Amino acid sequence: MTMNRRLISLAVATGLAAIAASSRAESPSYSETYKKYVQPDGTITVPEDYRTKFTFLGTFSVAGGDQAGGPAEFHQVYIDPDSIEQYRRTKAFPDGAILVKELQKARTLDMTTGRSSSWKEDAGWFVMIKDTQGRFNDSGLWGDGWGWALFDAANRAKPTTTNYKAECIGCHIPVKKTDWVHVWAYPLLDAKDRVTDFNK
Ligand code: HEC
Repeated sequence: MTMNRRLISLAVATGLAAIAASSRAESPSYSETYKKYVQPDGTITVPEDYRTKFTFLGTFSVAGGDQAGGPAEFHQVYIDPDSIEQYRRTKAFPDGAILVKELQKARTLDMTTGRSSSWKEDAGWFVMIKDTQGRFNDSGLWGDGWGWALFDAANRAKPTTTNYKAECIGCHIPVKKTDWVHVWAYPLLDAKDRVTDFNK
C-alpha cells in the first residue's frame, strides 16, 4: 500500500515536471533576440558574442584552395544556445532562433601533424533569424519563416542583402523540408539524433 502510494506520488511529480517542461517549450522566451540583434525596422546585425556565447554546430570545407591542395574556405555554423535545447526537444526552430554561418578564408600549411588547413581571415557572415510571427512582412530580408542576411567582413552592422527571395532562398530549396536549414550536416540538429547514437 505504502509502495503504491509512493508510486502514485512519483507519477504525479513526473507528470507535473512534464507539464512544466512542455509549457517552457512553448513560451516565447526569445524576445532578447529581437531586442539585441534586430533593429526596429527589421535590419539584422551579426551577433557580437556568437563566438563566445553560441553553440558550434559544424563546418563545411569548400574545395578549391591554393596549390597546397587545401580548401578555399571554411563555413563554420553556430546557433544560440537556448534554441539548441528547444530544437532537440521539439525538432523545430523556436521563434528567435539565430543561425550564424561564418565564412573563413583558409590557409594550408605543412605542420608537424601533416598538411593542415586553418583560419586565415574572416570573409563575411550569413545570418538567419527564426520569425514565427511575420514581424517584418514589408522588408525584403524577412519571409518564409526567417530573416535572411549576408554581411561583408568589413561591416557586421549592415547587411548587403536587400531581397532574400533573389539572394538566398533559391539555393536553400534542397533543404526546404527541414525549415530551409541543412540540419543533416550538424550532429546536434540531425532529426535522427546521431550524437545520442554515438554516445551509446
Ligand atoms: C549559392 C547557393 C546559396 C546561396 C545564394 C545562399 N545559400 Fe545559404 N547555404 C547554402 C548551402 C549549400 C549551405 C550549406 C553548405 C555550405 O555552407 O557550404 C548554406 C548554409 C547556410 C546557413 C547555415 C545553416 C544551414 O542552412 O545549414 C545559413 C545561416 C545560410 N546559408 C544563410 C543564407 C542567407 C541568409 C542567404 C542569402 C543572403 C544565403 N544563405 C544564400 C547555399 C546558399
